[in-house]
Amino acid sequence: MNSRAYLSELFSLDGRVALVTGGSSGIGRAVSEALARAGADVVIVARRKAELAAAVGALQEHGCRAAWVSGDLSTREGVRAAAEEAAGVFGEPDILVNCAGVNLRPPMGELGEDVWDRTMAVNLEAPFLLGQRFGPGMAERGFGRIVHITSQQAHRALVQSGAYGVSKGALESLARSQAEAWSPYGVTCNTLVPGFVMTPLNTRLSSDPRQVAALAARTLVGRNGLAEDFAGAAVFLASRASAYVTGQSVCVDGGFSVH
Ligand SMILES: NC(=O)c1ccc[n+]([C@@H]2O[C@H](COP(=O)([O-])OP(=O)(O)OC[C@H]3O[C@@H](n4cnc5c(N)ncnc54)[C@H](OP(=O)(O)O)[C@@H]3O)[C@@H](O)[C@H]2O)c1
Repeated sequence: MNSRAYLSELFSLDGRVALVTGGSSGIGRAVSEALARAGADVVIVARRKAELAAAVGALQEHGCRAAWVSGDLSTREGVRAAAEEAAGVFGEPDILVNCAGVNLRPPMGELGEDVWDRTMAVNLEAPFLLGQRFGPGMAERGFGRIVHITSQQAHRALVQSGAYGVSKGALESLARSQAEAWSPYGVTCNTLVPGFVMTPLNTRLSSDPRQVAALAARTLVGRNGLAEDFAGAAVFLASRASAYVTGQSVCVDGGFSVH
């Protein structure tokens, strides 16, 4: 077997269907591109149509099969509708990546119920509902990959973690519960844990050059993250290669978490 065939056997996503929430921006957009270029048919879900169409257009320019569904994942009805529409495009997904997230972090004393509810709905409840919708089918078919995107704040409090950190900590627990339920049937469930990545999500922090430099200094690599840094780990966790990796939190953070 030549090296190309060997790599393909390990990592190719040919014939797989992937659903990526938040695939229109930042980390989700880079993950969608990685999965699509590795061979998967990719459906991305977010709210804003222009951003969705632009992201899918870029994937199609690479020769990939991709589509978008506009849906609001902050309500249960929104999640259900988006899930059905997404599954109707290329069929039931083999790979589910929960990347859509909100980052509302008022000071703890000012954290109201509205921010708490919105954070939990998008960051935690939508991944739970999508897992309930697609996990059992993956288990029945004997193959599935569920990947959640969490945060340093799942592990440590910093820069006003508030409800956000709670939602991400719970999401890592959700991955372990899903892994316990479905890994015996070929479905692995893991999380990717970013460090600080300059995306539209964190304009507040990234507009402060001193904070940006301080966060880069906390890494071992010496720079903050780029959305493209997630490509390799996403393909790995979506592929056959990761069949024996489940319930894990994989840090893609330049060493932030071990410094
Ligand atoms: N950037 C970082 O430093 C960092 C660090 C740790 C963890 N993360 C996590 O990584 C993930 C991606 O973050 P990012 O930095 O790439 O953010 P981003 O560029 O702001 O992307 C967020 C995505 O989520 C979608 N989204 C937000 N609310 C939604 C809703 N109610 N319904 C459907 N889609 C919704 C957005 O699209 P619409 O607004 O059009 O809906 C967008 O596609 C998030 O879970 C975030 O918590 C990021």
